[in-house]
Amino acid sequence: MNLSLNKIKILDKSFNYIISPEISEFRKFSPKLKIGVLASGNGTNFQELINLSEKGELDVDIKVLITNKDDAGCIKRARSVKIPHKIIRGRDFLQKELFELEIVNTLIHYDVELVVMAGWMKIVTPFFINKFKNKIINIHPSLLPAYKGGSAINDSILNGSKITGCSVHFVEEEVDSGSLIMQAALSIRDDDDIESLSKRIHMLEHKILPHSISHAGYLIRSNFMENC
Ligand code: GAR
Repeated sequence: MNLSLNKIKILDKSFNYIISPEISEFRKFSPKLKIGVLASGNGTNFQELINLSEKGELDVDIKVLITNKDDAGCIKRARSVKIPHKIIRGRDFLQKELFELEIVNTLIHYDVELVVMAGWMKIVTPFFINKFKNKIINIHPSLLPAYKGGSAINDSILNGSKITGCSVHFVEEEVDSGSLIMQAALSIRDDDDIESLSKRIHMLEHKILPHSISHAGYLIRSNFMENC
């Protein structure tokens, strides 16, 4: 495979990164790919999907945003472009399966073809995964299988890693372990802290998540996954 070094400029500094597989054109979907986004936080990845969809570059119809946090920044982003959103809080349910059932029913209600976890900070159970088998993808801020879990960026700094990045993978039963779709790598600088490194990782996430959606959508639409 041919890998090349790319560059992003942030303010007065630029950084090199590498993406594999290399980015090509987005797939065309007609009708548009119906996606549901699960997010627990600020939602910058979600915003990038909104932007690319509005520009007509990524053929997705974002049917619904589901969040588990009342004050998540992603809610404002959904409201501002009138994407339906639903807050489903884990604490409102006696069992995790009932919490997930509510999520599943919402995704089915919106006729979602692909579920995109874009900063979803809850571990999902086999119940949920089996309802959308091979149709859930997740973005994670490390080069999996390194630094699984909820503090990946901090762990990479604390561990003295020199290279990290981000990964998009299909969601399978073991946490942060499903088959990889796309990864991007960058250097950790000596003076990096969690804020500076998160910022550069986010810029790469905004590149690989849309392309991973495009690829996963292609597999789903061509029934490739069902026949595996
Ligand atoms: C992203 O960095 C994503 O990789 C991470 O949450 C952030 C969400 O950012 N996800 C995980 O850590 C999942 N284990 P955003 O809200 O700005 O899109």
